[in-house]
Amino acid sequence: MTRRPPIVTIVCMETIQANWYEHPRWYDIAFGWDPVTEVDFVEAAFERFADGEVKRVYEPFCGTGRIAIELARRGYLVTGVDLVPGAVEYARLRAREAGVEVELTLGDACAFMPSQPVDAIITLIDSFRLLASAEMAARGAQQFASGLRFGGLLVIGLDIGEKPPLETHEERWTLERAGTRVETRVFAPGRPGKTPGTSIARSILRVTESNGREYELVTDDEMRDYTMGSFRALFEINGDFELLTLTSRKYDLDRPIEPTPDHCGDIVAVFRRRE
Ligand SMILES: C[S@@+](CC[C@H](N)C(=O)[O-])C[C@H]1O[C@@H](n2cnc3c(N)ncnc32)[C@H](O)[C@@H]1O
Repeated sequence: MTRRPPIVTIVCMETIQANWYEHPRWYDIAFGWDPVTEVDFVEAAFERFADGEVKRVYEPFCGTGRIAIELARRGYLVTGVDLVPGAVEYARLRAREAGVEVELTLGDACAFMPSQPVDAIITLIDSFRLLASAEMAARGAQQFASGLRFGGLLVIGLDIGEKPPLETHEERWTLERAGTRVETRVFAPGRPGKTPGTSIARSILRVTESNGREYELVTDDEMRDYTMGSFRALFEINGDFELLTLTSRKYDLDRPIEPTPDHCGDIVAVFRRRE
């Protein structure tokens, strides 16, 4: 009897070295968890800490619009800005699909502010660290101070302190939408960036499309490194902002963390604009 050869399926994985923000559909699946916890936290901060009503909200680094769209759903007048055209287009599409109005603009968070003063500025999941040089970060902080009304809030989430530069300390998760599966890994390979005071954060997306094709998208982001001291100084040094509370990415205002100088990990800070 002749033996049949085994059936072998060879899957060719295409590796793409690129900016993951320029692949917004994949990026949006990777970060496609429900933004309700984050936005509930933001609203709780408005209620607890803002002087006066919060109506106008600005989200710099809005990406594909997850937070901006959820805020608009809850009735806020939202402006989002992002540097990458594909991300802004995708966010506009998502807003249309959600049936909400969000003013989504292509621009640089170092230079842009909405035309009218806002009551709150929200920027979560480490985005502010993408302002890689000290000068860019200072310009970003100045822009925030110039466009946020007195008594308004800045809610900013980022990682601070030194993490062990090992792949084993990576964050890894998998999400799926409409047959496309995206496995995400994020870790620090322990390399400094070209800009002084930065390090590289590597993100690897493994995408399996519904037709079985597989892609690997590798992005190295240059991220500004902060200690608790340098982070606070950036916003407090000119007396523009007052730190009200710090918590972790568990988004629980009732579980504040101490702002110790050697703190390492993700934080979410709530500042108020001083007069
Ligand atoms: C981590 S993602 C944002 C995610 C989004 N805020 C969310 O919570 O889902 C960071 C975004 O910042 C954008 N970005 C990077 N540098 C920027 C800059 N200078 N001005 C505006 N956007 C910038 C990137 O294009 C990317 O979409």
